[in-house]
Amino acid sequence: MKSTPSKFGKTPHQPSLWTRADALKVHADDPTTTQPLVSANFPVLSDEVFIWDTMPLRDIDGNITSVDGWSVIFTLTADRHPNDPQYLDQNGNYDVIRDWNDRHGRAKMYYWFSRTGKDWKLGGRVMAEGVSPTVREWAGTPILLNEQGEVDLYYTAVTPGATIVKVRGRVVTTEHGVSLVGFEKVKPLFEADGKMYQTEAQNAFWGFRDPWPFRDPKDGKLYMLFEGNVAGERGSHKVGKAEIGDVPPGYEDVGNSRFQTACVGIAVARDEDGDDWEMLPPLLTAVGVNDQTERPHFVFQDGKYYLFTISHTFTYADGVTGPDGVYGFVADSLFGPYAPLNGSGLVLGNPSSQPFQTYSHCVMPNGLVTSFIDSVPTDDTGTQIRIGGTEAPTVGIKIKGQQTFVVAEYDYGYIPPMLDVTLK
Ligand code: FRU
Repeated sequence: MKSTPSKFGKTPHQPSLWTRADALKVHADDPTTTQPLVSANFPVLSDEVFIWDTMPLRDIDGNITSVDGWSVIFTLTADRHPNDPQYLDQNGNYDVIRDWNDRHGRAKMYYWFSRTGKDWKLGGRVMAEGVSPTVREWAGTPILLNEQGEVDLYYTAVTPGATIVKVRGRVVTTEHGVSLVGFEKVKPLFEADGKMYQTEAQNAFWGFRDPWPFRDPKDGKLYMLFEGNVAGERGSHKVGKAEIGDVPPGYEDVGNSRFQTACVGIAVARDEDGDDWEMLPPLLTAVGVNDQTERPHFVFQDGKYYLFTISHTFTYADGVTGPDGVYGFVADSLFGPYAPLNGSGLVLGNPSSQPFQTYSHCVMPNGLVTSFIDSVPTDDTGTQIRIGGTEAPTVGIKIKGQQTFVVAEYDYGYIPPMLDVTLK
């Protein structure tokens, strides 16, 4: 893979491949990699809004951080429209499924706070209307910078285009709650370049989003993960021997899998403040396997790099499949090579009886995995569903070498802090 000349010298790595052979090892309903059934009687955070992607406040090393004893989460959020004529069906009933499915087009960043790491109270919108340069405020990462409470929110400004941006503000606490102030000036950082990362001009279904900045525990430099697709015109990608991997006889046919071209992108900061970034070649590609590797993030454990990313059944390529959920890969150094966890990559998938029960999992360094409830069947045939738009029960996993195991289940939206910062 080619890259633009880098201030950091030669391109440091070749992308690791998630191969079709790896994906053939994905099996739904293995109890060690399956999320426990979510009951249809779940509580909702709010009757006013849907929430989905959840982004806990953390420090640059990845530790979930509370401030003055308050936990803070950011969520993608959209109003619910139970009384809007636009969302009534022919019988005059609220069509919550359509309202939910339309949410991405009006996603805004909200925040919530809590004393207990659950029972979240709504704080409100992070940015006032008109601050963000595009219609949609899509996922990213809030980083607590210092004891003054400064926060850099990295996120994706979408429609028109898709730009990785950041906005700086401050978290302020009282004994009654938390407010966010500032968050008034959005700084564009970078967009897909068409050479390493696919652009909208190359593919109308391109993905370029979900920044996750971090400090490499080994080299101390500031980097950022993000979701991308491998550059090139739609349909031009080759699914060759390397992408196929070591498959049994009869599994060589790749069908139309050239249309699935997900990758996990990485950029390095040229400055300490993270205002100036250089994209590097992807860490991991899934050409011929899957079209989306969303919200990539790391857990650094035992001197290893555990790379997690969420993906869907519907984004798998011809001839391979797997549940909606979180997938993972492990390496001994930042630039790989990465090996799929559990042989296949699957870490925590939905059970096949409730294939859409949760999504957008975030694995935290304490082994807790947060996600949101999408929809849960309310009858045995699965034809009736209840829409979530709220926090799912947190799951505990154990990460051991190249394997992971589901070991615990906690309360809805349980995101306890790993450290507390007293603000000055
Ligand atoms: C994951 C996701 C993110 C994106 C957001 C859009 O659930 O698809 O990749 O930022 O949701 O709503």
